[in-house]
Amino acid sequence: MTDFELLRKVASIYSQQDVAVQTGHPREVINRWLKQHRNKNRDCWLTYGERVKLEKMLPCPDTKPADFTFIDLFAGIGGIRMGFEAAGGKCIFTSEYDRYAVKTYAANHYCEHPIQGDIRKITQPENMAKEDVKKFIDSRIPNHDVLVAGFPCQPFSIAGVSKKNSLGRSHGFEDETQGTLFFDVARIIDAKQPLAIMLENVKNLKSHDKGKTFKVIVNALDELGYEITDLDYDAKKPDPKIINGKNFVPQNRERIVIVAFRKNLGISQTLTLRDVQKYFPDSEPKVGDILQNSDEVNEKYILTENLWKYLREYANRHRKAGNGFGFGLVNNDSRSTRTISARYYKDGSEILVDRGARKRPRRLTPRECARLMGFDKPNESKFKIPVSDTQAYRQFGNSVVVPVFCAVAELMKPLIIEAKKKAGSLKKPRT
Ligand SMILES: C[S@@+](CC[C@H](N)C(=O)[O-])C[C@H]1O[C@@H](n2cnc3c(N)ncnc32)[C@H](O)[C@@H]1O
Repeated sequence: MTDFELLRKVASIYSQQDVAVQTGHPREVINRWLKQHRNKNRDCWLTYGERVKLEKMLPCPDTKPADFTFIDLFAGIGGIRMGFEAAGGKCIFTSEYDRYAVKTYAANHYCEHPIQGDIRKITQPENMAKEDVKKFIDSRIPNHDVLVAGFPCQPFSIAGVSKKNSLGRSHGFEDETQGTLFFDVARIIDAKQPLAIMLENVKNLKSHDKGKTFKVIVNALDELGYEITDLDYDAKKPDPKIINGKNFVPQNRERIVIVAFRKNLGISQTLTLRDVQKYFPDSEPKVGDILQNSDEVNEKYILTENLWKYLREYANRHRKAGNGFGFGLVNNDSRSTRTISARYYKDGSEILVDRGARKRPRRLTPRECARLMGFDKPNESKFKIPVSDTQAYRQFGNSVVVPVFCAVAELMKPLIIEAKKKAGSLKKPRT
């Protein structure tokens, strides 16, 4: 990478001010460097020290040989990716369309591939005959072993589960899931036929629309030739696994995890929640593990008088009306916080840190959110946060508890390797 390319890459993720702080030059100098197109042609104009500092702002390539490949759909800031990489996977395709999430992703995860924006540009290309779409998807997404997706759960509108399938049409999933982002995932599965799939979603996906939504997903996967490797305590119960992040980090966060393998590979082993328990940390997490020392926390995170008054009045009103909505106060000794949501930036009410009697509570800092989601370990500050607090709160609130996906990926790994061997002796079914 030339000096200019390096600077431009760093400046595409970080603000000019951040680059200025790192290099020790005024922001105006950085701005001038970026504008001086002639620098493009001069390979060496940064000092060695400046180059090193800039390179440190970018993620390092992973040189370990990979055990399997995967694609990261609806990638957010790469929480699921971190789990699958830790298990020996190599990410070879990423799709994420939020430009701020892409900055955080690019600051933390090395990509040999460009990050693809809106996945629908690939799965629903304009003006293309239906019969060509599958080929188009196949040409735009590399072959991979595992497809992972934490697809957003916007409302599914389902007109009668599997009614159209029973009419014997091909691709009933297209009729059933059209208009949802699961549809786009399903089209990729159809075109690429990965060995395995791992889908993550909110717990409510299971009960949404009286269970019909979930049934549509299961039916669609079945129709596409995939069998869900059941992940519940009771292997006989046909429920998908709900994993609570609370077992790994001090946050109550229940998420559904759907693991499926291509049926023709004969991977029948059941993954159970008991297996996930093997990966629980030795000691129970506590909120104190993720909190920063008070001298590290800027005063801006302390609630204003007005907001604190408003939240207390709001909570009182709701308490009187008999419902439990209100703020959630935690301290060092609390076992867990409530689920952090993408709206945390608004008032932070779901998780407030108690600062003692007669002191107004404060919100979590973005760094504490990174720890609460397992992106950083307790006391660690490695995960790069190149965006504003508002964007950072949204990104962490939308993301996953990383160690949950380290455990899921570790559990899947031997099955993926077995599937790879079996697939080697089978011809990939392509139509
Ligand atoms: C629930 S979040 C997933 C977060 C991710 N699992 C993580 O670890 O950060 C869903 C993500 O999908 C992205 N998204 C939604 N629609 C998209 C689309 N059509 N194409 C690409 N990304 C999309 C959103 O911007 C959001 O970051």
